[in-house]
Amino acid sequence: MNGLFVHGIPAVVPEAEAALCRSRLLLAVDALRKATGVEEVDIRITKAVIDSASSHSSRLEEWEELSVSDRAERYTPTSPLWGMDRLIAPGGLLDELDAVVRMAELEDLVFSTWGMREIEPFPRSVLNFHGPPGTGKTLAAHAVASSLGRNIIAASYADIESKYHGDGPKNVEALFFAAQRDNAVLFIDEADSLLSKRLTNVTQGSEQAINSMRSQLLICLERHRGVVIFATNLVENYDSAFETRVRNIRFSLPDKEVRAAIWRVHLPKQLPLADDVDIPDLAERSDGFCGREIKQAVLDAVFRAARRGSVVCREDFVGAVERIAANSRKKQL
Ligand SMILES: Nc1ncnc2c1ncn2[C@@H]1O[C@H](COP(=O)(O)OP(=O)(O)OP(=O)(O)O)[C@@H](O)[C@H]1O
Ligand SMILES: [Mg+2]
Repeated sequence: MNGLFVHGIPAVVPEAEAALCRSRLLLAVDALRKATGVEEVDIRITKAVIDSASSHSSRLEEWEELSVSDRAERYTPTSPLWGMDRLIAPGGLLDELDAVVRMAELEDLVFSTWGMREIEPFPRSVLNFHGPPGTGKTLAAHAVASSLGRNIIAASYADIESKYHGDGPKNVEALFFAAQRDNAVLFIDEADSLLSKRLTNVTQGSEQAINSMRSQLLICLERHRGVVIFATNLVENYDSAFETRVRNIRFSLPDKEVRAAIWRVHLPKQLPLADDVDIPDLAERSDGFCGREIKQAVLDAVFRAARRGSVVCREDFVGAVERIAANSRKKQL
């Protein structure tokens, strides 16, 4: 299903729900394409009725003519959803994030008031959180914003990319404009194609479009004052222009000790737990899990207990871990 994007799911929707919704929509569209042979699709779900092709195209024209500040209206800041206390990570990673926060707090003083920008034009508050899915990158971006007492503007690559020629770079500019306007932390998710050197399997046109987005991104990064966080799963082939400007922070699958702490942070005080719940044992059993899978296991176990109308016990968690492990084994086959 290359080339299909679902965007517009509100940021407040939990990621598991959002992912489910996205995959259902993508599967439905894929089935439609297979059944009908239709290749080009641009399906929208809107409140307004788009009744004719002409009103559609006139809207596009209006959109193309919008100024950067008008475009920036659609990028709205939100309060961070999580604080640093929710992020469980090895000490080294927490120290690194802490250093980023302290540096961002001092940025104005050091770089502007004390003139250090003459020496170092890129104050290195441009970060790339990279690592496997579900390891806490999005969570950490919110936590950094929360520690700085700033709002966050989150956009994914799909929100920025536009198939209408020339729109991608304008959207990049608008996004940075919005972040500056609101003094918000800018979080650009799924940024792999933006940061990487070369795309495979794309047409000439798309490649050009991405290249001009990259150039715009460099210009914006150069001018921007504030924290910018990219998140990527895998950037094998960095564009060297970004390598020198972006500070890479690696997120890894949790080891046993970190998993135990992730289990704990997902069990609120009010949750009625049976005495037989054994966190070290669950940490052992969830070997290979990412944080998101631990969260899913907790939700699964808690709902089962709620349906039964009793406290959550060891068996609920063990069963949930086994189901999730079996599911991910199935996916790998
Ligand atoms: N290191 C962690 N500490 C605490 N909770 C975690 C951690 N990693 C994942 N989680 C849990 O899993 C959820 C999903 O993690 P998150 O969305 O931050 O992962 P991600 O690295 O951004 O994944 P993706 O690459 O798929 O976007 C979090 O909201 C949290 O409940
Ligand atoms: Mg994420």
